[in-house]
Amino acid sequence: MTMLEDYLEKNADRIDKVIHRYFGDVHGDLFRASAHLLLAGGKRLRPAVVILAADAVRKGSSDDLLPAALALELTHNFTLIHDDIMDGDVTRRGVPTVHTVWDEPTAILAGDVLYAKAFEFICLSDASDAAKVRATKMLARTCAEICEGQSMDMAFEKRDDVTELDYLEMVSKKTGVLYGASAAIGGILAGANPVQADALYQFGLNSGVAFQIQDDLIDLCANTEMSGKDRGSDIREGKQTLIAIKAREKGLDLAPYRRELTPADIDDLIARLNDAGILDEVRATAVERAEVAKQALAILPDSEEKEILMEIADYFIARGN
Ligand code: IPE
Ligand code: IPE
Ligand code: MG
Ligand code: MG
Ligand code: MG
Repeated sequence: MTMLEDYLEKNADRIDKVIHRYFGDVHGDLFRASAHLLLAGGKRLRPAVVILAADAVRKGSSDDLLPAALALELTHNFTLIHDDIMDGDVTRRGVPTVHTVWDEPTAILAGDVLYAKAFEFICLSDASDAAKVRATKMLARTCAEICEGQSMDMAFEKRDDVTELDYLEMVSKKTGVLYGASAAIGGILAGANPVQADALYQFGLNSGVAFQIQDDLIDLCANTEMSGKDRGSDIREGKQTLIAIKAREKGLDLAPYRRELTPADIDDLIARLNDAGILDEVRATAVERAEVAKQALAILPDSEEKEILMEIADYFIARGN
């Protein structure tokens, strides 16, 4: 295990403890549905970014900010529960999705509960009221942008003219902004000045885009045991990922794969995408974004936490799940 993986695991344990304290013993169908995905694990990367950004601005400050770190994880889980309804997926974090265990109305409400609780927890962190207002405003704007990104993601399924630029706008909104907010909110609550907060936001936004490109590769290349999610879901649903867009540009039509796929179908498609150099090109785009993310941190003072954030950007595009 690398030092970064060791750090992330310890951090995830810390967040898991807080989650168990608040969601480990809830009652009633709706609240159990809200807790289902939270208690199923997950990498807890957004809380890690909150904590590291805070400590990169003011060492030791993250001790007072665990509720804010939890707020970003709650926001993430709200989007995942709704995303699985939209994408028609049955497995996440290695367990059945909320709408398959309960039903769609319950899953919509379960997501809404987490969305509301995120704002409650941001307010519970120990920071100045002015910083908490800035952080709350940023989280609210971020949630609206995620909805916009998710709406674009769905609308793109019906189009065959989506460009790389369209894709980058869509993933910036559905995934990038939450990492941007995680980094900036950690910084803001620790007392960052506007220039530092903006640099942290740019770090999160760009590394988040790289993260989503890697997520698209994982969807295709990793089996369910590895990813904990439905394999080939993007291809089945006709998602306009960078993989699909570049394939179309090279005359490789993914439309015939828009159906339930066997592992053999997926392996055959991967071989064709590799032969055309498409997966390498997609990986190169992720590398570029991770580099932009790291450069944004240059204005922060040198610290161990800044180094770990840089390593996280590289991990986002190297991870296998
Ligand atoms: C999955 O996020 C959703 C995307 C934005 C691609 P993660 O890969 O961070 O999922 P968990 O939290 O570890 O389950
Ligand atoms: C979803 O992207 C991003 C959000 C949840 C907002 P995906 O649909 O690719 O995420 P996964 O692969 O299901 O985790
Ligand atoms: Mg999905
Ligand atoms: Mg989706
Ligand atoms: Mg995905």
